[in-house]
Amino acid sequence: MTLLNNKLEHAHEIVEDSNPTNNIDFQTIISRRLNRRSILKGGTGLTAAAFFGALPLVGCTDDDDSSGNPIGNNDNNAAIPAQGDLKRPETLKFTAVAHSTAETMTVAEGYKAEIILPLGTPLMSGIEDWKDNREQSAESFEWRMGDNHDGMWFFGKKGNGYDAKASENGLLVMNHEYVNSAELSPFGYHVIQDKDASPLFQSRRLASDVRREVNCHGVAVVEMTRRADGKGYEMVPNSKYNRRVTSSTTAQLTGPVAGSDLVKTKFDPTGNQTRGINNNCGAGLSPWGTYLTTEENFLGVFARGQDASQLSAGHNYGRVRYGATENSPGSRYLWHTPDAKDAIITDEFSRWDMTAAGANATDDYRNNFNTFGYITEIDPFDQNSVSQKRTAMGRFAHENCAYAPVEQGKPVVFYMGDDAKGEHIYKFVSKATWSNSDIGGGLKAGDKYLNDGTLYAAVFNEDGSGEWKALIYGQNGLDASNSVLPFNGQDEVLVFARAAADTLGATKMDRPEWVSVSPMTGEVYVTLTNNSNRGVKEDQPLSASNPRSYQVNGKPAGNDNGHIIRWAEAGGDHAALSFEWDIYLFATPYDLAAENLSQLNNTNDLSSPDGLYFDPRGVLWIQTDDGAYTDTTSCMLLAALPGKVSDGTTITTSAGQPTRVGMAASNDNIKRFFVGPEGCEVTGITMTPDFKTLFINIQHPGNTWGAVAGGSIPRSATVMITKEDGGVILAESFDSAENMA
Ligand code: FEO
Ligand code: CA
Ligand code: CA
Ligand code: CA
Repeated sequence: MTLLNNKLEHAHEIVEDSNPTNNIDFQTIISRRLNRRSILKGGTGLTAAAFFGALPLVGCTDDDDSSGNPIGNNDNNAAIPAQGDLKRPETLKFTAVAHSTAETMTVAEGYKAEIILPLGTPLMSGIEDWKDNREQSAESFEWRMGDNHDGMWFFGKKGNGYDAKASENGLLVMNHEYVNSAELSPFGYHVIQDKDASPLFQSRRLASDVRREVNCHGVAVVEMTRRADGKGYEMVPNSKYNRRVTSSTTAQLTGPVAGSDLVKTKFDPTGNQTRGINNNCGAGLSPWGTYLTTEENFLGVFARGQDASQLSAGHNYGRVRYGATENSPGSRYLWHTPDAKDAIITDEFSRWDMTAAGANATDDYRNNFNTFGYITEIDPFDQNSVSQKRTAMGRFAHENCAYAPVEQGKPVVFYMGDDAKGEHIYKFVSKATWSNSDIGGGLKAGDKYLNDGTLYAAVFNEDGSGEWKALIYGQNGLDASNSVLPFNGQDEVLVFARAAADTLGATKMDRPEWVSVSPMTGEVYVTLTNNSNRGVKEDQPLSASNPRSYQVNGKPAGNDNGHIIRWAEAGGDHAALSFEWDIYLFATPYDLAAENLSQLNNTNDLSSPDGLYFDPRGVLWIQTDDGAYTDTTSCMLLAALPGKVSDGTTITTSAGQPTRVGMAASNDNIKRFFVGPEGCEVTGITMTPDFKTLFINIQHPGNTWGAVAGGSIPRSATVMITKEDGGVILAESFDSAENMA
């Protein structure tokens, strides 16, 4: 770890690779918050969702499109915003944006990109604006935009409730994934060294810095209203909906893990609550209209001492399988290290130390680690609601969560990736069957669909077939006889989902990032961003589904640029137990001939795909989080018109691995739409229901973008993209654009 005031480069998120194979209590803080809110707002006025009218069809009228396999008029995607006679374009007609390493951003001609809601933006009046001296109090960040904006969703709002069709007014809900410590504190990244201290405490951080960082994680809810000129949006200052959920806010554990011995802590000896949501990455929407946030690299904020002798061998393995090894202070965060006398809530810092140090689990925070790593549901329309960690969906480094089109009387299905090297892809099939009457049902609907169901992990066979393996206690070796990790109940299967999926033979993938489901074909797409271990580590050999490892001096050196895999569930049924897959696209610099297996050119080449979003018209938006091609171009957003599984051919990669690749790229079917400022990641994407505004996020931008955002410190922010003429995004590509305006 580094020294005093050592200014770090913009820190990227920490990607873990663990596959081995004044003691104010919290209620006081909450009531303080509520008091503050009442003072500011004159009352909170809880509102139930009010308006949920009938929704229009997401039409797939383009039935002669050879690139689609329309599943018919999809009137089941009830919560997906849609308006007008939608038709997917035949071709992308905008002019591609060139490669760029500029300190500014570039968007396609005819479009305007504006920076809004940068780090530190106050969400309430009475809180001073961000200042570059960064002297704003750590506590004030409970009421400001956090850092590293990531996944988000625009919730149309009418009156006081959710309306999937409403575009005039909405709640923009977004994740704040992690922090760039060096740019956040007035002292930079400040660490006090004490080499005589015990191993976990040799580098100590300041209480105010840790508190600021805790508050800069989590989720922001921001009410937005259309600007007077009709183009784009502005924040509604002091909206009663504006709020933050942070790594300090109480959350409820629900589903099979709630109340389990594995999540009992000193904070809640009953194992039903925890404090904080953490490292919220990709976003999801529920079909009933709530926000599904995700906990990804939570490992980085935990320290673990020497305690294996206090644990069963299985539970020790379970920790290590999630990257928590003994005698580790964790990553640069070191949230457990400030002096306990500086704490203003109980165990403010010690709760990040997961060492089993007490006589039993309710004397310490050994299990706090097990209370993170979940899909977490938030109702943006109920500002006093408590976030619900949906444990039935499994515990891992969740990237995002995408639901399949819902159908009356059928289970609801969600797809998820575990973003670490060699980790798995999952789906959750609800026990309850879908009823359109649950739209607008808030967290109660979440209780119905997300607390009971079956979690599956994916096996990608070499012949292009695939299987879903159920993570059910008592089946297929998930029982007490398991020699690696004896499972004694469904709670253990879910908390240690990675180990359970290993037992089932789930395929180790090249870092599964975002998932999105095509509204045209129902096929499921997942970005596999890159994997330096592929073909290098023995447990991650080449396979048809992860077929690249670049040859350097005749030796495999890993998959540098990533690919996008997709599959069609058997019979078009998302609850099916088998599927057919191929690789939609191989990312690569276009001039790297041996790796350019999708025939990319300089208008559409990319590296390390990450964010992924099918808009309701069937346009696929692809974002990058890259370090391999950034000498040539900064991270970007592309638009694409994919075909369907098996529309391509069979190939052999430079590593000698045969596989199946989709239809070749062309200037008509994939094109670069936006390039971010130097040093950044482009991530998170949502569109307003009228398709006139596209929001994306910029994480950890380079050195001068801060001046653009206001000030001299480079700050993460949202970028709002509109058409200069105020029209529909990509309208130039639609034959029936006038129908959508
Ligand atoms: Fe937070 Fe895997 O990206
Ligand atoms: Ca990220
Ligand atoms: Ca990501
Ligand atoms: Ca990434």
